[in-house]
Amino acid sequence: MPTRSRITRIGVLTGGGDCPGLNAVIRGVTKPAQDYGMTVYGIHDGFEGLVEGKASELRNQDVSGILSQGGTILGSSNKGDPFHWPVSKNGEIVIEDRSADVIKNYNAWNLDAIIAIGGDGTMHICNKLSNLGLNMVGVPKTIDNDLDATDVTFGHDSAVFVVSEALDRLHTTASSHHRVIVVEVMGRYAGWIALHGGLAGGADIILIPEIPFSWDKIYDKILKRELMGKRFSLVCVAEGAKPMGGQLVTRGTDKKRTDPLQLGGIGKVVADSIERDTGRETRVTVLGHLQRGGSPTPYDRILSTKFGSFAIDLVADKKFGRMVALKGSEIKNIKIEDAISKQKLVTSDNQAVIAARAIGISFGD
Ligand code: F6P
Repeated sequence: MPTRSRITRIGVLTGGGDCPGLNAVIRGVTKPAQDYGMTVYGIHDGFEGLVEGKASELRNQDVSGILSQGGTILGSSNKGDPFHWPVSKNGEIVIEDRSADVIKNYNAWNLDAIIAIGGDGTMHICNKLSNLGLNMVGVPKTIDNDLDATDVTFGHDSAVFVVSEALDRLHTTASSHHRVIVVEVMGRYAGWIALHGGLAGGADIILIPEIPFSWDKIYDKILKRELMGKRFSLVCVAEGAKPMGGQLVTRGTDKKRTDPLQLGGIGKVVADSIERDTGRETRVTVLGHLQRGGSPTPYDRILSTKFGSFAIDLVADKKFGRMVALKGSEIKNIKIEDAISKQKLVTSDNQAVIAARAIGISFGD
């Protein structure tokens, strides 16, 4: 696709699951775009809008006042992968490649570039579209914080805040009733939310996908706390955690999604096992989408605004096929192709894990 000498029209979209801070990025892109003399098109519902031709112009007044709003004013979808487009045919789901429609709309809208805000799935799609000749710039988001290419993704801090606040609240009721309370949090393959949320909220046991757990170690920890006069325990478990030699607990599959597994239910499995095997009264709370909704924390608002304004600078400089990333305290940019190659998982030498173990938190191992 030929690139005009000056960038005048860009598209922006939010792909995949939403998270707090998306609107702050859209605002961070749109406001400076005016100064560059660019027109911004907000593409609706992620890549779905790019395939189906749904977009509208975003002006300054459209993004004014959205900094603190959760969700995304553009809408999002985790089923709109143009290269993996589900179609219902004779009661069966058939997967089609709709990338030709993306190119058609990109040209019809006369776009010079697209800024795509999303997680790993979105960056994979960005990379494929770059390879087809579209000018793509990526902005990484996800509450899971599992993209290796950036130190932090925005949305994570807001999710950790929700977990920490929930644990504070559950602490008092667990203590009053001398109960074990299990809190299930998000985190498919990476346990950052459980680790950071559990650490911030004073969990006694943290179970994450990277450290398969032993039932006996969990029971030991609860009983040892009792011997020390602590007649309650808080367990923070990531949805992707599993016992040693065990399987992921899922609540279903959705073939329309690129990652069809729908996780959920490990919290109940853990709570039921604790109650059955230790005889201690146990309750479970599943935080679910509470972690993705609501207003972003100040940290996420700042990171999102920086990401948005750096993304528009990349577009103005015609640095395409790049993703913004936080490295230390600086915003850098890296090739999208490199960004998608590695998931960031919790390692046993991570300082948060070391600190957690030092203060007596068990990982069930
Ligand atoms: O990737 C973000 C995430 O919140 C995961 O932690 C979770 O497994 C998934 O999205 C849930 O997706 P959905 O909203 O489609 O159920």
